[in-house]
Amino acid sequence: MTDQFVLAIDQGTTSTRAMIFDHAGKVVSVGQKEHEQIFPKAGWVEHDPTEIWTNTREVVGMALGRASLTHEQIAAVGITNQRETAVVWDRETGEPVYNAIVWQDTRTQKICDELAALGGGAERYKDKVGLPLATYFSGPKIRWILDNVEGAREKAEAGRLAFGNTDSWVLWNMTGGVNGGIHVTDPTNASRTMLMNIDSLTWNEEIAGEMGVPVSMLPEIRSSSEVYGEGRKGGLLPGVKIAGILGDQQAATFGQACFEVGHAKNTYGTGNFMLINTGTEPISSQNGLLTTVCYKIGDQPTVYALEGSIAVTGSLVQWLRDNLGIISSAPEVEQLAATVEDNGGAYFVPAFSGLFAPYWRSDARGALVGLTRYVNKGHIARAALEATAFQTREVLDAMNADSGVDLTELKVDGGMVANDALMQFQADILGVPVIRPQVAETTALGAAYAAGIAVGYWSGEQDVIDNWAEDKRWEPSMDGDERDRQYRLWKKAVTKSFDWVD
Ligand code: G3P
Repeated sequence: MTDQFVLAIDQGTTSTRAMIFDHAGKVVSVGQKEHEQIFPKAGWVEHDPTEIWTNTREVVGMALGRASLTHEQIAAVGITNQRETAVVWDRETGEPVYNAIVWQDTRTQKICDELAALGGGAERYKDKVGLPLATYFSGPKIRWILDNVEGAREKAEAGRLAFGNTDSWVLWNMTGGVNGGIHVTDPTNASRTMLMNIDSLTWNEEIAGEMGVPVSMLPEIRSSSEVYGEGRKGGLLPGVKIAGILGDQQAATFGQACFEVGHAKNTYGTGNFMLINTGTEPISSQNGLLTTVCYKIGDQPTVYALEGSIAVTGSLVQWLRDNLGIISSAPEVEQLAATVEDNGGAYFVPAFSGLFAPYWRSDARGALVGLTRYVNKGHIARAALEATAFQTREVLDAMNADSGVDLTELKVDGGMVANDALMQFQADILGVPVIRPQVAETTALGAAYAAGIAVGYWSGEQDVIDNWAEDKRWEPSMDGDERDRQYRLWKKAVTKSFDWVD
């Protein structure tokens, strides 16, 4: 095993990464490239799928080159990806018919409202697919493309167009594209389309019909861990088995070894996503959480999760950098926030894509409240970071309410967990310890494990558990009254973000 490694492709919202891991689950090398964020109108967010595929090849080349490895030393490839983001392409030309519509995009509000008006409101499909009707999910995004791109609907009905999240798009291209690329996804991704039966893991033809999406466009749903195909001849990974697919948040849950009912993790990326393993039966939330597939390893039973999705956390720091210019790099936010003692009374509700869990308010928009002349950019930086912690508390409260058992600690991962002050504040606001593992990039690691398990590189979940190691733990130290006071003000600030869409 010493000269064999597993490669994971993490096709995320802001960048694409290739990471190579060894048998101990340690990072051997990384290649990473950001792609353009396209904002054609307020509320619209797009990516160029061609750029994403070009970057994928580039970062795989970087990761192999930096570790001086050849493709023969790669035992398997796993793919993990930003979920929900919809790509529609022409199977004959290999060209996307439109930019990818990103999960944060809110243009499908009207489509969602129309579907809700057919009866049942926002919960119309919840029993079948585990999700409320919301702009977040893929189905309405596919409908928008077919309705708005000239000729797309006819081509789709003739079977010429394919839909995929970016896992399927990358996989199709890696395995040959127009020359025999395979069109496959896994149940974690499919469970975010609003089109998959959450019990049977099959496409729901009735919902697809109502949504105006021909089932022929949809990828085949296979498990999260099995050999789907091989890298194409002439590519960077010819003949290498592609053997794992997990949506990025489920991949992180897997990489964090959350294999028991009640195990949970929170990932701090462009948004935050907390998942709790609920076992082999889907559980319906009464508190604004999503029912989603956590993973399905080969022919083993499906494992489900409840998820609290928060649309904007890390991307608020990018906004401070790119739109306000008060920092010049994302890590600088920590220094700027450290120039002040506290938030100075300011609360920042970053409802840029409406509010996701636990509110699901598409009429919400960002609000910065509590301002006085005392407030400076340090306070705004601090309020922006604190928003991540407060939103996480809201999701944790929903999880505790749904499960009836209080979580006693929280495993965290993702880019922002390098920020010490934020993690301390997170523990303070939650009132439970926050724990970071040694490999904080558990998203890529989880996809690597899924692929490595499929080809026998790792024997199974026990290897994941054995490789997991704690790096740092933050204990809550804030006085309870102070925690309650700040959280109460946060809740009040949230109400100020409601009802901003005409
Ligand atoms: O549901 C969206 C999520 O999968 C995006 O994750 O890490 O790319 O922000 P990330």
